[in-house]
This record gives sequence, C-alpha cells and structure tokens, in this order.
Amino acid sequence: MKKYNWGIIAPGKMSAKFVKGLKILNNAELYAVGSRDVGRAKQFAIQYGFRKFYGSYEELASDPEVDIVYIASPHSFHHEHTLLCLRHGKNVICEKAFAINSSQVEEMISEAEKRNLFLMEALWPPFQPFYKKAHEILQSGILGEIIHMHGWFSFQPPYDPEDRKFNLALGAGSLLDIGIYPVIDALTFIGVPDEIRAFALFSPTGSEESITAIFRYINGKMADIYSSFRTAEGIGCKLLCEKGNMIVSRGRDMNQRVILEIHGRKPEEFVFDPDAMGYHWEAEEAMKCLDNGLKESPVVPLSFSLKLIKILDRIRKEAKIIFPEEK
Ligand SMILES: NC(=O)c1ccc[n+]([C@@H]2O[C@H](COP(=O)([O-])OP(=O)(O)OC[C@H]3O[C@@H](n4cnc5c(N)ncnc54)[C@H](OP(=O)(O)O)[C@@H]3O)[C@@H](O)[C@H]2O)c1
Repeated sequence: MKKYNWGIIAPGKMSAKFVKGLKILNNAELYAVGSRDVGRAKQFAIQYGFRKFYGSYEELASDPEVDIVYIASPHSFHHEHTLLCLRHGKNVICEKAFAINSSQVEEMISEAEKRNLFLMEALWPPFQPFYKKAHEILQSGILGEIIHMHGWFSFQPPYDPEDRKFNLALGAGSLLDIGIYPVIDALTFIGVPDEIRAFALFSPTGSEESITAIFRYINGKMADIYSSFRTAEGIGCKLLCEKGNMIVSRGRDMNQRVILEIHGRKPEEFVFDPDAMGYHWEAEEAMKCLDNGLKESPVVPLSFSLKLIKILDRIRKEAKIIFPEEK
C-alpha cells in the first residue's frame, strides 16, 4: 500500500479535527505542519505526532517529501495558499469555502489542471452516511418529487471583530462559513437555481451575520436557505415532497440523523455516528484518487465546487455582500 506524506497549512481548530481523521488511515503519514508561527507549528506537531514543523507556509510547500497538503486557513487565503502549494507541485485538499469568489476558484482549478495535480474542496457532507441514506431514500421514489427545501445552519459564536467569522479581511460572514451547507443541500438534492433573492443583516464590522436566500427553479421547485451567527438552530434541511417529508439533520456534535415522514405512516429515524466525525473519508478519497491517477474526486468534482461558488456569488450579489479585495 502506497503511503502519502501529509502537510497541514494553518493548524487551527479545523485542522485538529481533520488530523484526528488522518490518524485512523493506515496510508496517511503525519509528516509536516506549517504555521505562521514556528512555536504553534511545533506545538501542533508534538500534540498530533507530525515528524516536521515549519514557521511558514512557504517552507512547508517547498519540502520535497510532502505529497499532499490540507489547507485550513481563513477563507480569504484559500486562493493564495492553494496556488502556493500547486506551484510547488503539491496535491491539495482545501477547506470550504474553496475561495471567496468564483474567479479565484477558476484560477485554482486551471492551475491544478495546468500542473496535472490533484485538487479537491474539503466538503464534508457528500462522504457521510446520513447523506448517502438521504440520497438512497430520494432515489427509491418513496417520497415522490421534492417540492420545497428548508435549509438552515445557525449558532451563536461570541462577537469578536478580530475573529475570522466577523473580520472582513478574513472572508467573514455566515454564508461562506455555515450557510454554504444548506446551499450544498439545495445544489445536491435539487440543482442550480434559476432565480435567487437574498437579504442580509450585518455586524458592526460590516460582515454579514445573518442571511436568508430564496431559490426558485423553473421546474416549480423552491428552496429557502438561512444561516446566522445570531441564533442557534443547529444544522439541517427538510425536504417537503409529494408523498411526505424528510429531515436531514446534524447537530453541533455532528450526530447525524435522517427522519423519514411518509404521509399516514409512523416516522422512521436513521442515526449515524461515524468515527472522527467522518472527516477521514475526505482524506481517504484523496489518496484513493492519487492511487488511481485521478486529478479530481468523482465524489466532489471540481465542477460541483465551481457551481457551488457561483451560487454563493449570486447570493452575495443579491444581498450586497462585498469583500474588501472585491471593491
Ligand atoms: N469542514 C468543516 O466541517 C469545517 C469546520 C470548521 C471550519 N472549517 C473551515 O476551516 C477553515 C479554518 O477554520 P477554523 O475554524 O479552523 O479557523 P481558526 O481556528 O481560526 O484557524 C485558522 C488558522 O488559519 C491561520 N491563519 C492564517 N492567516 C491568518 C490570519 N490572517 N488570521 C487568522 N488566522 C490565520 C492560523 O494558523 P497559523 O497562524 O498558526 O498559521 C489559524 O490557526 C475555514 O475555511 C473554515 O470554513 C471547516
């Protein structure tokens, strides 16, 4: 079995979760960590058992032994850090949102194609058993056609103008951070909307902190999407269909459940609780693709990431959300 040397860019909260997933994969070597601060890199490397640590992302990307880099910096740096790694010949998994807008994502994709390297957005839902169960139920036809989708993700982080959730320079806002999940649900279960309306509320820094978007499809379907840092509703979507409804939900602890409510029948509930919150499946997929010479994942193809960011662009345009670098 070929083993892959993993490098980590930006050892923050999400990297710690991802690394717990890497640890359960036999073909993943915890090789090197890159931080803006060598002390932080060293601490993370010791805590999780990495062989090397670097005080800059450039040094990590330049290490010839690194096979693949996982990037979990704030959204506004995904484009820069992905290009840095690709230009040093590294395969990349980069966290969502893939970048702050579609022109950045297009550049990342064309760089990966030009250099014949693997690139994937670290999208969690497509790999999870609850998502696969929801697909299976929809495909069985038992619910009939989807008529409407409610999608939501909200929680109440403390207000901190320096934090990436509120600092515009770090790509702040609920949409790219958490609203992306109900948008993924609508894109996955219904498709690209034909028309979008959206309204946002803003924090004192000018970052969006609550957003509601309505998607209309010319085939008669609709979806409403809500995300916010001001309420605490959890994460999920409810698909309202011809013959019943389906709730596809995951709590803050990522406990995953699908509740099937066929009209006139007792509801059925399916609960899933994968190891390492199921993050290891993204890394496993990347290594499987590399084993098979694939430059993108059939589970999260780059075309899906491009459709997703283009929808996010359209929502931001409607809700008048502009990042400093776009002015
Ligand atoms: N897939 C999921 O389920 C999921 C869940 C949570 C978050 N995420 C994504 O993961 C990414 C990181 O989120 P997080 O919650 O881990 O954030 P975080 O804890 O704030 O960590 C971000 C890291 O980025 C680095 N960084 C580089 N430039 C920075 C700057 N100018 N200001 C602040 N930090 C900077 C920092 O590491 P060094 O300074 O040490 O280099 C920091 O530790 C985001 O894109 C987020 O959307 C995904």
